[in-house]
Amino acid sequence: MSADAIVELYGEKTHSQCGFSEFSEVGAAEDIFVTVAGLFERNEVYMEVIVAEHAGFCFGVTKAVETVYDQIQKEKKNIYTFGPIIHNETVVGDLEKKGVKVIENPAQLQGISEGTVIIRSHGVTRQVHQELESSGLDIIDATCPFVKRIHKIVDEESAKGKSIIVVGSETHPEVEGIVSYANGPVFVVESPEKAKLFNENRELEYTVVSQTTYNKKKFQETIEIINNNGYNINIVNTICNATDERQSEAEEIASKADVMIVIGGAHSSNSRKLYEICSQRCAKTYFIQTLDDLKMDIDASVNLVGITAGASTPKNIIEEVQKHVRTNI
Ligand code: F3S
Repeated sequence: MSADAIVELYGEKTHSQCGFSEFSEVGAAEDIFVTVAGLFERNEVYMEVIVAEHAGFCFGVTKAVETVYDQIQKEKKNIYTFGPIIHNETVVGDLEKKGVKVIENPAQLQGISEGTVIIRSHGVTRQVHQELESSGLDIIDATCPFVKRIHKIVDEESAKGKSIIVVGSETHPEVEGIVSYANGPVFVVESPEKAKLFNENRELEYTVVSQTTYNKKKFQETIEIINNNGYNINIVNTICNATDERQSEAEEIASKADVMIVIGGAHSSNSRKLYEICSQRCAKTYFIQTLDDLKMDIDASVNLVGITAGASTPKNIIEEVQKHVRTNI
């Protein structure tokens, strides 16, 4: 990002507030401003605000959301998403205003002869996919390729006779979808605590996969417990890179921040996991959905505020929050 672009993005006021010219003199402005939103004068002390580079929409969510807006633009009639396209009420509300309906069950399509159903990035179960296909409506499958890869692994491994262990949240739609692709025994292990209670046939061979947004450390702990308990396991780490990068970066920022803000939907599992990771590193971690939820307790001792966001948080909400922190605190 060039110096001019930074000034344009943050405005002249920001420019003078953050002492940008000082940085440009030492020639380090580009690197610093990629992740640092600014240094701001506050009661004669400077508060730094860091926005995570990997905050917000991942490519799978971007693709799914864009697919819906694309259909709206093409003025398609009867646009449905199977479940909310993302765990973000603002985006889902906007789509609703534009006529997009959310369905939760293929039976809701009975009697409808024309329309388009978009499958969200989490994917659906094999059965639901088949039912949607046989509805006669246009089906656009926006399942993230990383999730599809897990479906394929589970399908192929179980066809070879392996039992499957999915490390993840049992009731999460992504996990329900993954489980449905097994052609034989399949088990869900939610946590290291649950792994200790896992008591199945030790004579079988197991292939272990994970929910894409599972916490990396917890996944390692979970498989270690299963392995140490005498199971024959073949592990495929299917945590997606976007999640991995987002979590590692959030942890790193939270470790040095005095206050950490995690923006995400209340029902977004990856956002809640981010909050969990950040609150372990930073006692003052706030979990908000939009700027309206932000009621921060900031005193003069706060030098660094970190901001990150889950995969279903639109850029404009992140921008709003960071602008508010920079200008109002
Ligand atoms: Fe796909 Fe990873 Fe996003 S699995 S939907 S890129 S969090």
